[in-house]
Amino acid sequence: MRRLSPIAKSHRTPLILGVIVGTIALVLNVAVPAIAREAIDSTISGERRALTIWAIILVCVGFGRFASGALYRISLFRVAWGVETDLRALLYSHLTKLSFSYFDRTQSGQVISRANSDIRSIQVLLAFGPLIAMSIISFILAFGFMMILHVRLTLVALCTLPGVYFFGQKLRHSVFPLTWVSQARLAELATIVDENVNGTRVVKSFAAEEHQISLLQKAARHIEWVNVKAINERAKYNPIIEALPRIGMAIVLLYGGLLAINDEVSIGTLFAFNAYVIMLQAPFRMFGFLLLQAQRASASASRIFEVLDEDPEIVDSLNAIALSNVKGEINFENVCFSYQNRVSQFDLDAPEKGSEILSGLNLVLAPGEIVAIVGRTGSGKSTLGRLLTRFYDVDSGKILIDGKDIKTINLHSLRHHVGIVFDEPFLFSTSIAENISYGDPEASYAEIIAAAKSAQAFDFISELSEGFETIVGERGYTLSGGQRQRIALARSLLERPSILILDDATSAIDIQVESRIHESLRNRLEGCTTLLIAQRISTIALADRVVLLDGGEIVDEGTHSSLMARSSLYMSILAEAETNSRQGDL
Ligand SMILES: Nc1ncnc2c1ncn2[C@@H]1O[C@H](COP(=O)(O)OP(=O)(O)OP(=O)(O)O)[C@@H](O)[C@H]1O
Ligand SMILES: [Mg+2]
Repeated sequence: MRRLSPIAKSHRTPLILGVIVGTIALVLNVAVPAIAREAIDSTISGERRALTIWAIILVCVGFGRFASGALYRISLFRVAWGVETDLRALLYSHLTKLSFSYFDRTQSGQVISRANSDIRSIQVLLAFGPLIAMSIISFILAFGFMMILHVRLTLVALCTLPGVYFFGQKLRHSVFPLTWVSQARLAELATIVDENVNGTRVVKSFAAEEHQISLLQKAARHIEWVNVKAINERAKYNPIIEALPRIGMAIVLLYGGLLAINDEVSIGTLFAFNAYVIMLQAPFRMFGFLLLQAQRASASASRIFEVLDEDPEIVDSLNAIALSNVKGEINFENVCFSYQNRVSQFDLDAPEKGSEILSGLNLVLAPGEIVAIVGRTGSGKSTLGRLLTRFYDVDSGKILIDGKDIKTINLHSLRHHVGIVFDEPFLFSTSIAENISYGDPEASYAEIIAAAKSAQAFDFISELSEGFETIVGERGYTLSGGQRQRIALARSLLERPSILILDDATSAIDIQVESRIHESLRNRLEGCTTLLIAQRISTIALADRVVLLDGGEIVDEGTHSSLMARSSLYMSILAEAETNSRQGDL
């Protein structure tokens, strides 16, 4: 709560307004029975004029109560929603800064639940907390007023309230765990639905629909069980809780009536006590809810701040420079790297270095050179690309672009000049044009078309019913794998990178089209240094030089034919890749 207060402070005006009108509403609320008491007593004594005045006063107070109550709710809910929006923006902007290593070890479901339900539970506390706090104050005010009027009658009138509290607690103790279970079960169900929708291709291809449906039914029945159980508990306690204040009214009438007959209290006092008995049971019922909600919100807040406290590992250095006039010389100097493997997500304090992927790797790419990297699967080829774009930082050694350590270059500029295309491109569910211009939303249509042409995507896009305005399905699934790859390539080419990393980026494109792509790449990106990660001989043949990566270092290099002639490792890797791809084709 202390850490949330700066956020709440930025909504100072509605907050202060809410507290002021809330106080007014509170005083008026407690005043109504007191005024009614005066009105009744003065009427009984036969003052006709007074009756009219009291009626007018009551109407005015009622109206004031209505207006202040409405204003109070509006302003407090505004604060609560404002804080929710701020927190969400804060969390999201922080998430975009976090490094890849964070997402490697965090389940996306966890992040999503923090961004949704945790923020919601804080919002609920902010919206209802002050409301409940005020009704507790109103309880104290009314209690004081009643005590002044008649001590014994007050104690008798309130004798049922501990019962309300007791049964309220009992209800909460039995229902609260059930709501937790219900939430967890709902998350389970959501996961099943999500996997069914996203993994529908796998489900159908294994004809596993029946299995999925039975999983879903099981999860749905769990939820039903929990909710029915909760309703049973509610049905048991709620009628008692509602009946108790009415018993209290009866007791007030009985005891207060006797007192009135003996002229110890007035009829008006009797009436006021009756009203207070009903009014006061609400704070009693809500007090426990407030405690619970506060607990829940504080747990949520700590989960949210856990994310916000996670430092982005990869950030701009203090005097980071922007790249300009890039020639494209790349220098890997003695690069060592291993991924950080955390044993489990619960073990956040114990980062553990995984085994070394690159150990003292040296590699120089001349400006404009196209270098193919060949290595066994898992040998660290993609890792090289991820290090060059600073998705991860090297453990030791350096990577230089035009002689500048990439750690001294600002990230935006680095990633603008170094384009990377993956083998499984992620497309957004918008139009093809918007996907291509993702890195530069200001790009003109002519530029988008030129990029599409260079990636050999123009022809198939033109054949689509709505051309560049065609909306691709989620992740681009309405397109073929090769088409998706070409759009991803166009997206990178649009930015005219000086250095391009193609990580198996043309693996799903047939060989003729691929060679046309490389031809147009040469025209478009003249002087662009290219790191080509590939398995197919046809792709490798496009490179000026081939380097062989094994055991975390470069073990050989040369032209494709020279390596074929002398390296048995090289031959076996290519032969294996060839068999794999043929099996894939079958
Ligand atoms: N995010 C990650 N966290 C932990 N380990 C990883 C991560 N990404 C890759 N690795 C490990 O690092 C090693 C190198 O991975 P990399 O993706 O660079 O291989 P690759 O040479 O590109 O293989 P492929 O040819 O199959 O694409 C692998 O053993 C892999 O298990
Ligand atoms: Mg790879």
